[in-house]
Amino acid sequence: MRICGIDLWKFCSISMYHIIANWKMELDFKESLTLTKKILQGLKKNRKNDNIETILCPSFTDLEEVGKILKKSKVELGAQDMFWKEEGAFTGEVSAKVLKELGVKYVIIGHSERRKLGEKDKEVRKKVEMALKASITPIVCIGETLEERENGLREEVLFRQTRAIFKNLKLGNKKIILAYEPVWAIGTGHAAKPKDSCEAEELIQKILDEYIPEKKQKQITIIYGGSITSKNISGFIEKGKMLGGLVGGSSLNAKNFLSIINKISKK
Ligand code: PGA
Repeated sequence: MRICGIDLWKFCSISMYHIIANWKMELDFKESLTLTKKILQGLKKNRKNDNIETILCPSFTDLEEVGKILKKSKVELGAQDMFWKEEGAFTGEVSAKVLKELGVKYVIIGHSERRKLGEKDKEVRKKVEMALKASITPIVCIGETLEERENGLREEVLFRQTRAIFKNLKLGNKKIILAYEPVWAIGTGHAAKPKDSCEAEELIQKILDEYIPEKKQKQITIIYGGSITSKNISGFIEKGKMLGGLVGGSSLNAKNFLSIINKISKK
């Protein structure tokens, strides 16, 4: 059911927010473990956060030990990437199967920092398919660069990237998290405005309407990423129509990350 462009069914049926920590290549092994413990301690103190799925994405090499610490908690383990082939002679790549063995439930795919290194829409799509096959929820990133934005290409870029993910995709009963991450907002301290994320959400929604049957759209959650802090997260949730955030810099400090989670507890 749609009123003023808003799919009410979707909003009624999804009650969870997703807050995802992307630690990139910023922490060493010990730092990852210490930060994990601090985040868990902080979450224990806040009992009102059961409407939030918190996900930590450390480096591949830290997944196993971070996973052990998370084992008895409600916080989930995520990876920062994976390969699109099941197994084989692919030096340096990491398979979905290995991630599953380590307890990984989510995987970031198509982050702009990987697209910048050469990852194409086609590879992003293949990784999404492999993640779904392995029952790992993909957190797929899309977003325009500053140049594309200034040249009025935002719509075109979002359309191309979203279509590459969803056209003829066999979603089954699996979930996908779609992160709108304008590249110019990542790691810059200049977050987008809630109005930007709202416009992007409406645009993405239109594309989804074309490629995903309405009854399956509730399996797709749209979140925002790019210079999120505890000061701006509420705007993206309340005005920007986002159901969570992908957090880089602000997730590297337990206090900052926890204050983001606290801001949306029981919203
Ligand atoms: P940022 O990173 O929060 O540091 O901007 C977000 C991301 O890269 O996902």
